[in-house]
Amino acid sequence: MNRVLGLLLGVLLVTVVAWAEDESCVVCHDESTPGQVADWRVSAHAENGISCSDCHGSEHNSKEDVTKAAFPDERVCEQCHEEQFAQFSKGKHNHGWTSLNAMPITHVEPDELMEGGRGCGGCHNMGIKTDEQKAEQLAKGYRYQNNSCDECHTRHSFSKKEAKDPRACQQCHMGYDHPQWEMWSSSKHGSRWMARNNGNLPEGAPAPTCQECHMTDGDHNNHTAWGFLGVRLPLPEDPQWKADQITILMALGVLNPETGEPTARLDAVKAVDLARLTKEDFDREREKMVANCTKCHSESYARFQFMMGDQMMQKADVLMAKAIRIVAALYKDGIIPKPDDYAFAYPDFLYFMRTNGAKIDGMSHIDQVLFEMYMKHRMRTYQGQFHFNPDYAYWYGWAMMTKALGKIEELDHVMRATHAKAH
Ligand code: HEC
Ligand code: HEC
Ligand code: HEC
Ligand code: HEC
Ligand code: HEC
Ligand code: HEC
Ligand code: HEC
Ligand code: HEC
Repeated sequence: MNRVLGLLLGVLLVTVVAWAEDESCVVCHDESTPGQVADWRVSAHAENGISCSDCHGSEHNSKEDVTKAAFPDERVCEQCHEEQFAQFSKGKHNHGWTSLNAMPITHVEPDELMEGGRGCGGCHNMGIKTDEQKAEQLAKGYRYQNNSCDECHTRHSFSKKEAKDPRACQQCHMGYDHPQWEMWSSSKHGSRWMARNNGNLPEGAPAPTCQECHMTDGDHNNHTAWGFLGVRLPLPEDPQWKADQITILMALGVLNPETGEPTARLDAVKAVDLARLTKEDFDREREKMVANCTKCHSESYARFQFMMGDQMMQKADVLMAKAIRIVAALYKDGIIPKPDDYAFAYPDFLYFMRTNGAKIDGMSHIDQVLFEMYMKHRMRTYQGQFHFNPDYAYWYGWAMMTKALGKIEELDHVMRATHAKAH
C-alpha cells in the first residue's frame, strides 16, 4: 500500500516539476538569464513545483513588458513559510532598514550607497520595508532590493544548507565596526570548523558556527544581550561605569548633554530595539547564550567568560568616556564650532565620519579620531572578547583605544595652544 502511495506521489511530483519546467518563463529565461534558471533548477522550489510566476507573477511575458515583473517581498515568502517569517519579524534583523534610516548620516550621503544597495544599504537591506519606505525607494528610481529572505539563502537556489554555512553571514558581519567573521574564523571555534570542513577533524567534532550561537535551532529571531552599541538600561550600578555610560549616551545624542534628560533619539532607539532596555530583556538573552555554551563547556567556564566580557566593556568605557569629555570640552570652550545641524555643541557619533554634519568641508579631525575610537576600537575590544579572539581583543581593540586616547590628548594640547595664540 505504502509503495503504491509512494509511486503515486512520485508520479505526481514528476508531473508538477515537468509542468513547472514548461512555464513560458522558464523556456524564455533559459535563453535570457540561463544562470538564474540553472540556480532555480537545483532548488527545493523547483523540486516542489514552485516556479517563476509564483514569486514574480505572470503579468510580464515578453521582452517588451519587463517592467511588469513583480518583485516579491517577504510577504510572498510568508504565504508558504509562515513560521520563519513570524520569527524574522520579531528579530533584530527586521530593523536593519529602519535603523539605517534613523541615522542622520544616511540622509547626507550618496543615494547609491543607501537605496542603491552598495555601502550602508547593501547590508541594511535586511528588514521588512513598510509600503511608505518602498514608495520612497521607487520614487528615487530604485526598484530592486525588496526582500531580506534572500540575504542568507540567496536567490534562486534558496538553500537551507547555504544559510547554515557561516559564510552566509560574512558579507555583512565583517570589516570596520563589526568584524565578527574575522574574529570567529580566526578563533578556536572557527579554526576547528575549517579543520573539520577540510576533513582534518572527525565529522561529529563540535565547532560552533554563528548560526548555532545566534540562530539556535533555526530560530530566525536574533538578539544579543549587549547589542551592537554596547549600552543598556538600566544603567550599571557601579558609579564610575554609570557615569561613563552616560557620557557615551550623550555622544550618541540619546541623552541631552546639557540636562542629562532623554532626547527624541531615545524613542528611535526604542523603535529599532537598539539596546536592551530592561534587566529582564538583557538577562533573557544572556541566559539563552549561556545555554548554548553549556552544550559543550561547563557552566562555570561559560559564566567566567561572560564575566570577563562585561568587565572588559567596563574598562573600555573608562577610556572612551575620558576621550569624549576631552573633545566635549573643546566644544564647550568654543574651540570646535558647533556644526549647524548638530543638536548640541557636543560630539555626535551618529554623523559617523561626517564630523561637520551635512557640510562636507571643515571636518573636525579630533572628532574623527574619537569616532574611530568608538566605532572601530571599542567595538573590537568587547566583540573580540565575546568571540574569544585574543588578537582582536588586545591589539586591534584595547591597544588601539589607548593609542587613540593618546592622540586625542595630543591634539587637544595643540588645538588649545593654537587657539590661545590666535586670540
Ligand atoms: C519571451 C521571453 C520572456 C518571457 C516569456 C518571460 N521573460 Fe522575463 N525577461 C525577459 C527579458 C528579455 C528580460 C530582461 C532581461 C534584461 O534586463 O536584460 C526579462 C526580465 C525579467 C525579470 C527581471 C526584471 C528586471 O527589471 O530586472 C524577471 C523577474 C522576469 N523576467 C520574470 C519572468 C517571469 C516570472 C516570467 C513568466 C511569467 C517571464 N519572465 C517570462 C524575457 C522573458
Ligand atoms: C521563491 C521566489 C522566487 C522564485 C520561485 C523565482 N524568483 Fe526570481 N527573484 C526572487 C527574489 C526575491 C528576487 C529579488 C527581488 C528584489 O531584488 O527585489 C528575484 C529577482 C529576479 C530577477 C532580477 C534580479 C537578478 O538577479 O537578475 C530575475 C531576472 C529573476 N528573479 C528571474 C526569475 C526566474 C526566471 C525564475 C524562474 C526560473 C524566478 N526568478 C523564480 C524570488 C523568486
Ligand atoms: C508557493 C509556496 C512558496 C513560496 C511563495 C515560497 N516558497 Fe520556499 N518552499 C516552498 C516549498 C514547497 C518548499 C520545500 C518544502 C519545504 O522545505 O518546506 C520550500 C523550501 C524553501 C526553503 C528550504 C530549502 C532547502 O534547501 O531545504 C527555503 C530556504 C525557502 N523555501 C525560502 C523561500 C523564500 C526566501 C521565499 C520568498 C522569496 C519562498 N521560499 C517562497 C514553497 C514556497
Ligand atoms: C558591511 C555591512 C554593513 C555596512 C556597509 C553598514 N552596516 Fe550598519 N550594521 C551592519 C551590521 C552587521 C550591524 C550589526 C552589528 C553588530 O550588532 O555587531 C550593523 C549595525 C548598525 C547600526 C546599529 C543597529 C542596532 O540597532 O544595533 C546602525 C545604526 C547602523 N549599522 C548604521 C549604518 C550606517 C549609517 C551605515 C553607512 C554609513 C552602515 N551601517 C553601514 C552592517 C553594515
Ligand atoms: C545582508 C546583511 C546581513 C547578513 C547576511 C547577516 N546579517 Fe546579521 N545583521 C545585519 C544588520 C544590518 C544587523 C543590524 C540590524 C539593525 O540595524 O537593527 C544585524 C544584526 C545581527 C545580530 C543582532 C546583534 C544585536 O544587536 O543584538 C545578530 C546576532 C546577527 N545579525 C547575526 C547574524 C548571523 C548569525 C548571520 C548569518 C546566518 C547574519 N547575521 C547575516 C546584517 C546582516
Ligand atoms: C560560541 C558562540 C558564538 C559564535 C560561534 C558566534 N558568536 Fe556572535 N556573539 C556571541 C556572544 C557570547 C556575544 C555577546 C553576547 C552578549 O552581549 O552577551 C555575541 C555577539 C554578537 C553580535 C552582537 C555584537 C557583538 O559582536 O558583540 C553579533 C552581531 C554577532 N555576535 C554575530 C556573530 C557572527 C556573524 C558570527 C559568525 C561569524 C558569530 N557571531 C559567532 C557568541 C557567538
Ligand atoms: C540571517 C540569515 C537568514 C535570513 C535573513 C533568513 N533565513 Fe531562513 N534560514 C536561515 C538558516 C541558518 C536556516 C537553517 C536553520 C536550521 O535548520 O538550523 C534557515 C532555514 C530556513 C527555511 C527552512 C526551514 C526548514 O527547517 O526546513 C526556510 C523555509 C526559511 N529559512 C525561510 C526564510 C524566510 C521566509 C526568510 C525571510 C523572512 C528567511 N528565511 C530569512 C537563515 C536565514
Ligand atoms: C558546539 C560546541 C561548542 C560550543 C556551543 C561552544 N564552544 Fe567554546 N570551544 C569549543 C571547542 C571544541 C573549543 C576548543 C577547545 C580547545 O581549545 O582545546 C572551544 C574553545 C573555547 C574557548 C577557548 C579559546 C582558546 O583560545 O583557547 C573559549 C573561551 C570558549 N570556547 C568559550 C565559549 C563560550 C563562552 C561559548 C558560548 C557562548 C562557547 N564557547 C560555545 C566548543 C564549543
